[in-house]
Amino acid sequence: MEFVELNNGVRMPILGYGTFQITDEQECERCVLDAIEIGYRLIDTAQAYGNEAAVGKAIKKCGIPREELFVTTKVWISNAGYEKAKKSIEESLARLQLDYLDLLLVHQPFNDYYGTYRAMIEAYKEGKVRAIGVSNFYPDRLIDLIKFNEVVPAVNQVELHPFFQQVEARKIMKKYGVQAQAWSPFDQGRNNLFENEPLQAVGKKHGKTSAQVALRFLIQEDIVVIPKTVSKQRMLENFTVFDFELDDEDMNRIRGLDTGKSSFFSHYDPEIVERFTSFAR
Ligand SMILES: NC(=O)c1ccc[n+]([C@@H]2O[C@H](COP(=O)([O-])OP(=O)(O)OC[C@H]3O[C@@H](n4cnc5c(N)ncnc54)[C@H](OP(=O)(O)O)[C@@H]3O)[C@@H](O)[C@H]2O)c1
Repeated sequence: MEFVELNNGVRMPILGYGTFQITDEQECERCVLDAIEIGYRLIDTAQAYGNEAAVGKAIKKCGIPREELFVTTKVWISNAGYEKAKKSIEESLARLQLDYLDLLLVHQPFNDYYGTYRAMIEAYKEGKVRAIGVSNFYPDRLIDLIKFNEVVPAVNQVELHPFFQQVEARKIMKKYGVQAQAWSPFDQGRNNLFENEPLQAVGKKHGKTSAQVALRFLIQEDIVVIPKTVSKQRMLENFTVFDFELDDEDMNRIRGLDTGKSSFFSHYDPEIVERFTSFAR
């Protein structure tokens, strides 16, 4: 496993396991146990995924020392604001059966995320969280949050895959020492990512699949990736990305796949903002 060093010195695995949309409790527990058995040490969950308890059960059972794992969760919009966020952090810890989190993120830049962030700084200072960060913060809100808080977010988890490479946003993150982390590194299979011709061609050259090439590309761009799969075989496939290297020609070819546009939604679209803010109730 390779690691990145966050802006507070904490080491974070560059490859982890994402648990979004694995809502069945037994299935989620099985998936996380399989992922840990294969070698994943970073597990990414969120209050909004409804699976923190299942993730916690798997962590409890897995037999790997706590300090070797890296557990991330995120405060949801409905828990925004200092008091609610503070309470929700305790609830997440209880559901996960953990004394501390490795990384805690503001899930979305909506509602009172300043209050949320203050509660997170407090938890960080109390040792309940080793690093704090944000998710889905585009340069405008990211810079604003950085300018008016004493702790610079260690991580910004954003949509990031070969079709949406966030080149400009990553420059801003780098400028302020914020580690980029890719959500949906496979674009959830949209736009035929797994059958994409250039990804397949590069894969053929290295004896690898499109999925492995996509992850390797992001890793070589110094981006932390958290692919999700419920299949143990695909967990292994996605984990086996440290035994080959993309050359400049490969990297440039994949850089050429960037459309500069989200495959999901824009955080600047008023309808999307209305939808997200409605989650506050
Ligand atoms: N912060 C946020 O707002 C946010 C938003 C979205 C996601 N996330 C995080 O990022 C993680 C990953 O993103 P994601 O789950 O949205 O999507 P993803 O990892 O880009 O793609 C997952 C999809 O790809 C399939 N898949 C995985 N490996 C494969 C392989 N080797 N070959 C073929 N198909 C494969 C999976 O199907 P099977 O499961 O059937 O294999 C699933 O349909 C999430 O789990 C979550 O932890 C965060």
